[in-house]
Amino acid sequence: MSVSGDMPLIVTIDGPAGAGKSTVARRVAGALGVDFLDTGAMYRGVAAAVIDAGIDAEDSDAVGALAEGMHIGFNWGTDPPRLKVDGVDVSHRLRDADVTANVSLVAGNSRVRRVLVKAQRWIGKEHPRLVTEGRDQGSVVFENATIKFYLDASPEVRARRRADQLRAAGRTNVDEEKILHRIVHRDERDSTRTDGPLMCPEDAERIDSSDMSLDEVVELMTKRARAEIGVGVDE
Ligand code: DC
Repeated sequence: MSVSGDMPLIVTIDGPAGAGKSTVARRVAGALGVDFLDTGAMYRGVAAAVIDAGIDAEDSDAVGALAEGMHIGFNWGTDPPRLKVDGVDVSHRLRDADVTANVSLVAGNSRVRRVLVKAQRWIGKEHPRLVTEGRDQGSVVFENATIKFYLDASPEVRARRRADQLRAAGRTNVDEEKILHRIVHRDERDSTRTDGPLMCPEDAERIDSSDMSLDEVVELMTKRARAEIGVGVDE
């Protein structure tokens, strides 16, 4: 059952690091038969470009200038869409430790945010049936979204999930305490910045997934989205 061809549908999913947003958003988009936008990947793409250009992430002028001069977008012909910065596929860099360590600082740069908010709204115009996830999708980028969610989980649960993912990927000696510390630090930085802080929009449904499986979260969101758009769904 997918959303019928010409009906605009923007579903926003915001929330802190490690709440399962990417997995959930991708699966909800699949269930609804619409596109999926990972906005964290865009901030990570800018952070990778900053590092690879030898720029100090604390140098806000240089970071802002780099972001304003770059062309950032996705190749929508691949599944999932791959991120390109100035025509170069940078998807392989996005999860690297140096990028993860610097991305929150880069995401706090107002010029970077202005560039990416504009790019995301443009993507929303080109792909008007979209599940988009990030920190400011319902509060800033798509204020008039069809349906908004805020996906949360306790820091301990998020740290455990991240540790499990790393172990499943074959990493040994995973330090869960350290992961927890980093998550708390990143949440703090993401929610206290002045521009586009991590927050639950007033008109969003807050879902705490601490005691839910990701399957249950996907089912709940898909059900809500279908109910919201009612008749505009193909059986
Ligand atoms: O979701 P993620 O871990 O890939 O996000 C990477 C960073 O980008 C994280 O520090 C939060 C930030 N971010 C943001 O500020 N706004 C968004 N819309 C998406 C991500």
